Amino acid sequence: VGRCFGDLKNRLFVFLGKFSFKFRSCLSLFIEMDRSTSAKGGRSKVPNESVHVIVRCRPISQKEKAEKNEIVTTIYPNRGVVEIASSENKENRKVFTYDAVYDHNANQKTVYTEVVRPLVTSVLDGFNGCIFAYGQTGTGKTYTMEGTPSSEEQMGIIPRTFEQIWSHIDRTRNSNFLVEVSYLEIYMEELRDLLQPGTKSLELREKEKVGVVVPNLHSVCCKSAEDMLRVMVQGNKNRTVGFTNMNEHSSRSHAIFIIKIEMCDVETNIIKVGKLNLIDLAGSERQSKTGATADRLKEASKINLALSSLGNVISALAEDSPHVPYRDSKLTRLLQDSLGGNSKTIMVANIGPSVLNYNETLTTLRYASRAKKIQNKPIKNEDPQDAKLKEYQEEIQRLKNLLAQRHTTERVSSAMSTSRLKKPRKQRSEITVEDIEGDTCEEEEPQFVKEDAKTKEELEREKKTTAELASSSVS
Ligand SMILES: Nc1ncnc2c1ncn2[C@@H]1O[C@H](COP(=O)(O)OP(=O)(O)O)[C@@H](O)[C@H]1O
Ligand SMILES: [Mg+2]
Repeated sequence: VGRCFGDLKNRLFVFLGKFSFKFRSCLSLFIEMDRSTSAKGGRSKVPNESVHVIVRCRPISQKEKAEKNEIVTTIYPNRGVVEIASSENKENRKVFTYDAVYDHNANQKTVYTEVVRPLVTSVLDGFNGCIFAYGQTGTGKTYTMEGTPSSEEQMGIIPRTFEQIWSHIDRTRNSNFLVEVSYLEIYMEELRDLLQPGTKSLELREKEKVGVVVPNLHSVCCKSAEDMLRVMVQGNKNRTVGFTNMNEHSSRSHAIFIIKIEMCDVETNIIKVGKLNLIDLAGSERQSKTGATADRLKEASKINLALSSLGNVISALAEDSPHVPYRDSKLTRLLQDSLGGNSKTIMVANIGPSVLNYNETLTTLRYASRAKKIQNKPIKNEDPQDAKLKEYQEEIQRLKNLLAQRHTTERVSSAMSTSRLKKPRKQRSEITVEDIEGDTCEEEEPQFVKEDAKTKEELEREKKTTAELASSSVS
């Protein structure tokens, strides 16, 4: 019984030992799994960043002045506050606060330096950026985004980004850059390529790890700020093709200028990609004001579709809703990353000061206020798979290898042929230093042979003289 009990006890210990080993392995496996999931969840640790919202109020127009229209907006640039109130509706005074507000005194340079410059600096560090101008027609969206590119003072955001990008490239050492631009517009829910106006309507595609892309969109490689400006001007010209009233058309379509900058550090070979979307949206005025013809109504409803779905997306994001209706319009699909995704985004809300625009201004201010709540997660785009510079680097390496291979084969075959056949001297002048060095050994041989022959002759002559001397001495 004792032996039996002892045996049982031993087996129990062995079993418990095995169990505890398994338990410990399971435990460590769980710990490992936990560690790896928290590492993968790195993206969730990327700090959120709100959409920056600024409001810009244009000066009163000549017409408004002539008509003595009441001014309903008061701007407090130092506090970032806009107040709206009409004499009719004094108790109904509304106050809104934004990241920055600008009145008619703010010039183009100030807006750029204070708001846009830091964003473009981030794009040049590999982040995605987006700036869009929202507001009623005639409030200064195009003035803010483009302005007058030929005037240093009146130049808007887009041409100023060209200057910033190229002054950065010109002073950066040890990096290669590739700058490409595309320009498209969304009109009546159709995408038009403004750099290749003949092409059919473009489509949107979802690309894994990249986001929403426009597959056949033409892109132009630029080598200077002037190049980029030329592309922008050409795109604007193409915008008018087929439309009788340019101003009306441009206020009804959304224009999207895209800049993609690839940067490669020559020492580390790390590639970064920054993408900047610059958007001049269609006028946000309501349908009632846009006219009554059937075509106009259809057009307006499609413009409004994009803008209203943009409004819905902004509201859903602001309320942290589980469903964000990006898919409702092409504009919101294109802006998917810029709103609630991987991007640093600035919204410029343009307003007018007059009482005539009271309702539209109030709507714009509310819209802009909601957009402030949107949280983005900008991540630096390092070593992306689709970088063209990477493709070019690999191609250059492949060609280098091919050249090196060809060079060795040529050397081997030339060495073989020279050992069999002596090439004429003229041909060899084109070849490299090593080939010429190889030739010197070849030249030594006939020289040596000649000298050798000469020595033999002398030897013979000496032998002869010695023999003669010997015979004469004997005799
Ligand atoms: N901040 C501003 N300073 C001076 N003029 C402005 C300003 N904003 C707009 N304007 C002028 O107001 C008019 C309408 O502006 P525009 O940019 O065409 O409006 P939108 O593109 O919103 O329809 C233009 O003549 C423009 O030069
Ligand atoms: Mg405009």
